[in-house]
Parts: sequence; structure tokens; C-alpha cells
Amino acid sequence: MSSKPRIAPSLLAADFSCFGDEVQRVVNAGADLLHFDIMDGEFVPNFGISPLMIAAVRDKTDVPFDVHIMVTHPLRYIDALVEAGADMITFHIESHDEPYAVISAIKAHNIKVGIAFSPNTPTDTVIPYLSDIDLVLPMSVEPGLGGQKFIENTLAKIETLSQEIQKHQYQLDISVDGGVTIETAPAAVQLGVTILVAGTAIFKSQQPETVIKNLRNA
Ligand code: DX5
Ligand code: ZN
Repeated sequence: MSSKPRIAPSLLAADFSCFGDEVQRVVNAGADLLHFDIMDGEFVPNFGISPLMIAAVRDKTDVPFDVHIMVTHPLRYIDALVEAGADMITFHIESHDEPYAVISAIKAHNIKVGIAFSPNTPTDTVIPYLSDIDLVLPMSVEPGLGGQKFIENTLAKIETLSQEIQKHQYQLDISVDGGVTIETAPAAVQLGVTILVAGTAIFKSQQPETVIKNLRNA
């Protein structure tokens, strides 16, 4: 049995010429979390949102800020992101810093920590960390770019993670990020996803509140 997922609009799909208004638009539309993508141009061949942009919109809302860092050296980003107002930081298992060092550095700030993994990374690589984190994020597209198609074999990864979490009675969220739409969300939620990240589906809609409501009832 699945309960309702929380919805995290991904600001990467926002109109950057009016970033603050875009934050307000999805908060008004009912966002449960706001998802910010940080990229370093190295871990992924692209650049994303900067800590300064996150700080600039922090006062607009109390909705928690969920920051996803697609960077080679996550340790270098943590202080700046906490300063900017991050409530949770999710780093990639494929990054170059030692995972427990990153987990401890994030937890030291009393915020939540998540681990993401890319489509070609086996689920086994994140299993050993599930007892120490607040969120696990199987990427359903190659990280670095919005607007891609949901990779179907992510569903099997979600199922494996759900089983592992249930078996050990761990308390953590399963999120999914990339190509999440009203068509792709239901299967993911059925298998145990508790946080749906969606960029294009929400920001490119004229009725973001309807999309958020439909995703929540997926
Ligand atoms: C991709 C980012 C996603 C992206 C999702 O690397 O992590 O958060 O914004 O965008 P959509 O929903 O358009 O696939
Ligand atoms: Zn993301």
C-alpha cells in the first residue's frame, strides 16, 4: 500500500529570467519541497543553479529546500549550500569524495542527507549506506539535463530499494528524478517512491497546481 508522495518541483526547468517569481509560482501551486540542481561542469557536462541563487530565494518560503549536487567533489559545496539555506543535500555515489565523509559533513550541519545514483550505476553500490541516510535517489535519466525520457528500468531499482528498506525497517525516503510525469509517476509511487521530483512537467505547464495535484494522486 502506498501513501501520497511529496512533490518537489525542479527549478532547473524554471524561467531563470524571473527565478524568484518561478519559486513563488510553484510554492503557490502546492510544492512540498523545492528541488535545486547544482552542477560543476565536470561530473556532468553542464552547469546548474548556484548557491547564490538559492540564497536569493530562501526568504520567499518555508518550503524545505532539497539540493541535488551533481559534482565531483561534494565536500567543497556543503558549507556554501548550508549557508544558502539547504534543508537537505543529496550527493552522487559516483562522486570522488568518500561517501561516509560526505554523509558526516552534511549531518554535522543538522540537515538531511541523501545519496543519488546514475542510471548505469548498480543499486548494490548504495545499499550499504541506507542505514545512515535520509533519502535515496535512483536517477531516472542521465544527470545533467532536464526534459529527458524516464528510463523504465529505474522501476526495478525502486523495487529493490523498497524491499531492502522494509526488510531492515529503515526510515528513509525514496525519491525519483528525471522524466517524471503523470504517465510515469504512478508505477514509481506504487513501488515505494515517496518524493517525486519533476521539472518540465510542472514548470512548462500553464496549470502547475493541477500537475502537482495529479502527481500527488498518482
Ligand atoms: C537532471 C536533474 C533533474 C531535472 C529533472 O539532472 O537532476 O532535477 O531538472 O527535469 P525533468 O523533470 O524535466 O526531467
Ligand atoms: Zn535533480
